[in-house]
Amino acid sequence: MIKGIDHIGIAVHSIEYVRPFYEQTLNLPLLGIEYVEDQQVKVAFFQCGDVKLELLEPTSDSSPIQQFLNKRGEGLHHVAFGTQTIDQRITQLKRKGIRMIDETPRIGAGGAQIAFLHPSSSAGVLYELCEK
Ligand code: CO
Repeated sequence: MIKGIDHIGIAVHSIEYVRPFYEQTLNLPLLGIEYVEDQQVKVAFFQCGDVKLELLEPTSDSSPIQQFLNKRGEGLHHVAFGTQTIDQRITQLKRKGIRMIDETPRIGAGGAQIAFLHPSSSAGVLYELCEK
């Protein structure tokens, strides 16, 4: 069901501000920067071994990431599992009593299909299913 960790999502106020830490201090290659209108975020991906780091910067006050920053400040936001046939994975999880934030997949960064589990079903961790 789970292929591994695809990426780790990190909420930041400004990608430009933290970029030198990832690029120059940690020496991680920047894979790209894009905007995901649906979630009102600017996203930067850095490669870190087999895993990517996904920096999320809000582009409006109503962005879910802005709401997260207001409540908790910058830091770890979610962990994304790589998966295949995401629709079936969602059905399976629901059958096992897991509450989903997204009952149907939506399009995330890189054109991936994504769906979030509700953290009330996963001991406080926000998990994402991600199919490329
Ligand atoms: Co993500």
